[in-house]
Amino acid sequence: MMTSDFEYTDGELYVEKVPVRKICEDFGTPVYIYSHNSIRSSFLEYKEAFSELDPLICYSVKANSNISVLKIFSSMDSGFDIVSSGELQRVVVSGGDTSKVVFSGVGKTEEEIEAAIRSRILFFNVESEAELQKINDVAVSLGEKAPVAIRVNPDVDPDTHPYISTGFEKSKFGIGIEKAVDVYRNASRMRGIEIRGIDAHIGSQIFDLSSFSESISKLVYLADRLGSDGIEVSYIDIGGGLAISYESEEKPPAKSEYARVFEEHLCDTSYGLVLEPGRSMVGNAGIMSTRVLYVKEGTSKKFVIVDAAMNDLVRPAFYDSFHRIEPVCVGSSESREVVDIVGPICESGDFLARDRSFPEVSAGELLAVFSAGAYGFVMSSNYNTRPRAAEVLVSGERYCEIRARETLEDLLKAESIAEFI
Ligand code: LLP
Repeated sequence: MMTSDFEYTDGELYVEKVPVRKICEDFGTPVYIYSHNSIRSSFLEYKEAFSELDPLICYSVKANSNISVLKIFSSMDSGFDIVSSGELQRVVVSGGDTSKVVFSGVGKTEEEIEAAIRSRILFFNVESEAELQKINDVAVSLGEKAPVAIRVNPDVDPDTHPYISTGFEKSKFGIGIEKAVDVYRNASRMRGIEIRGIDAHIGSQIFDLSSFSESISKLVYLADRLGSDGIEVSYIDIGGGLAISYESEEKPPAKSEYARVFEEHLCDTSYGLVLEPGRSMVGNAGIMSTRVLYVKEGTSKKFVIVDAAMNDLVRPAFYDSFHRIEPVCVGSSESREVVDIVGPICESGDFLARDRSFPEVSAGELLAVFSAGAYGFVMSSNYNTRPRAAEVLVSGERYCEIRARETLEDLLKAESIAEFI
């Protein structure tokens, strides 16, 4: 990530060459703002770090699925990791190459399977035997062969938040690695199935490279074992999960160190590597900006009440996660105080930061919530009948809205009053 894409000049925060204040004036708050250059740079850093292995990089669409963001990736010939036909549709609309799409997720429906087969995706990441059977049946009914990788569960504990840790034995994801050989044998006998790969995804926001090392070594072992049984796999898909820095003290591994882990295990093999990075592509390429509505002196605490809430950015409420927050324009006062930065929603869990040492701010001021490019807007909701925020993309001096703020009309248009009331 190019931190220089989010910098203060003369006490004012800029995204690339555009003042955040200007964007907030034009489009209102809360607003998500992404840097084109940061997104491009992350992808290019991955490319460079992995140049030895030349993997297929499948950007994980769930992290940020705005079609302009996807367009940035498709224009660099990226592949995509999707989890629904909605995401597939987004990839198609943004000009993505469906032959570079991998389709993950534990609950793919028949319609989704059919849409993906028709789109000629690279492969399905199959999460259960029942799903394998279903994919086979759909493919046979279409007179096609469906390309698959089996998602195995390598039983690695990646030491991250339990909600985003997926590769240990008790998780709902994947097929136990001991069982995988049998599942592959069955798959190899199915008329509608073509085996292409092996897949795992052990979790997200992972700092510890040894978890990735353990996972890839188990996958290579399994691939070799299958090869000696006459079942050839072309790809090893290692999923996503590389951590980013949310706090300045946190130091996630460099992409080059991350790449070295896979080089060690794959350089003497002919398996093609597939990566599914999400957060590490876009997390630090976006901020959310919000305006202070009120400052309230509680009995024992001070609250900065802002116009963004847990419906706009749920990560602090849901995972108790930390996001750096700063005023958009640095004030003259040096004094700091400990505050909770909270939204207007009627839940105590509705906070962006708790017990945070923060510069004194007053109503009307703008704040920037950093590292909001991944799992930010995509996880937002309409709770409390709050329209979802606008999204803006900046490129140098240019910027434009890439998703309009929802209106109350948008929110009500799918609803009706039942006749029998
Ligand atoms: N591949 C699969 C199969 C996944 O399930 C995920 C993320 C990724 C790739 C991308 O992982 P990443 O590189 O972004 O770590 N909402 C949570 C994160 C959920 C991650 C879900 N799966 C958060 O806000 O922290």
